[in-house]
Amino acid sequence: MNLSVATMNMKMCRSFCFSCSFEMLLPFSSFRSSFSSFSHSSSSQLQQPHHLRSSDLVAFEYSDLNLSYNLDQGHVRIRQHVNPLSASFSVPAQVPDWNMVFADPTLPLMVDIGCGSGRFLMWLAKRNPKVSNYLGLEIRQKLVKRAELWVKDMSLDNIHFLFANATISFKQLVESYPGPLRLVSILCPDPHFKKRHHKRRVLQKPLVGAIVDNLIPGGQLFIQSDVLEVALDMRVQFDEFDALKHIDTLNPALPCDDEGWLLRNPMGIRTEREIHAEFEGAKIYRRLYQKQT
Ligand SMILES: C[S@@+](CC[C@H](N)C(=O)[O-])C[C@H]1O[C@@H](n2cnc3c(N)ncnc32)[C@H](O)[C@@H]1O
Repeated sequence: MNLSVATMNMKMCRSFCFSCSFEMLLPFSSFRSSFSSFSHSSSSQLQQPHHLRSSDLVAFEYSDLNLSYNLDQGHVRIRQHVNPLSASFSVPAQVPDWNMVFADPTLPLMVDIGCGSGRFLMWLAKRNPKVSNYLGLEIRQKLVKRAELWVKDMSLDNIHFLFANATISFKQLVESYPGPLRLVSILCPDPHFKKRHHKRRVLQKPLVGAIVDNLIPGGQLFIQSDVLEVALDMRVQFDEFDALKHIDTLNPALPCDDEGWLLRNPMGIRTEREIHAEFEGAKIYRRLYQKQT
C-alpha cells in the first residue's frame, strides 16, 4: 500500500476514533473501499468504525501477507519486556548453515534487529524475491517460532528468523554470512526508560561498531523510535562516524525536519510499533544513514 494512503488512513482513523464522526469519513472513498476488503473485519465493525483499534490498522496494512492466525501455536502471549542481560540470553546464537536457510546465500542481506512479530520483514521479503535476503533477530522466542511458521506457510526462501540477543550475536552472524550486508534496521527498540536500565537497551557500543564495520560501502542503516530520548541515544552513537552520511545530504527526495529527523519512513511500510504509536498521535524520529564508498 502507498505510504501516503496509509498515512491518510491513519489520520482518518484518528479522526473517527476521537470524534466518533462517521460523516467525516465519507469523502475518503479510497479508505472505505480498501477497508471493505479488510479480511479481519466483520460487517458489524464496518458499521461501527469508532471501534477501530490500532491492531486493526496493523492487520489492514499487512493484509497483503494473507497470514494465517490459526497456527498450531494458538494465541501468542508475550511479556512486555525481557531482560537481555539475564543469563538465559547471554549465550550467543548458533550461526546457521546459510545454505540451509536461504535459497541463495550470496544475495545482499538486510538484518532487522528486534524484529518483533517479523511481519515488517516478511512484507519486504515478499516484495523482493531473488533480490535480497532478510534476517530478523528477536529475543522473544515465541515470536520467532510464530514467524517461522508464517514463513513456512508463505513458502518464502529469502527470509529467516533467529532467536538471538542481537547485542551479543549480531557480529558473529553477519561476519559469517557469505554475501554483503546491505541494510540494517533498528526500529522502535525497547526503551528501558530508567537510567540504571539503559544497559539493557539493544544498541550498545560493540553493536554500533559491528554495524558500521560490516555494512558494505553504499549500505544503509535505518533507525527510528517514537521515544525522542531513545532516538537521540541511537543517533548520537551513529552520527559520530564520518563513514556514515545521513541520507538528506545524498538524496534530497528524502527530506528532514529542522532537527534532522526524516519526515517519512522510506521502507514502503510502517512497522507495527510505528502504526500503534502514530495512531496515538506520537511523532516518529527517524534517521537513514549510508556508508560511504
Ligand atoms: C518495541 S518492539 C519493536 C518491534 C518492531 N521493530 C516494531 O517496530 O514494531 C522491540 C523488539 O525488540 C526485541 N528486543 C529487545 N532487546 C533485544 C535484543 N537484545 N536482541 C534482539 N531483540 C531484542 C523485543 O523483544 C521486541 O520484540
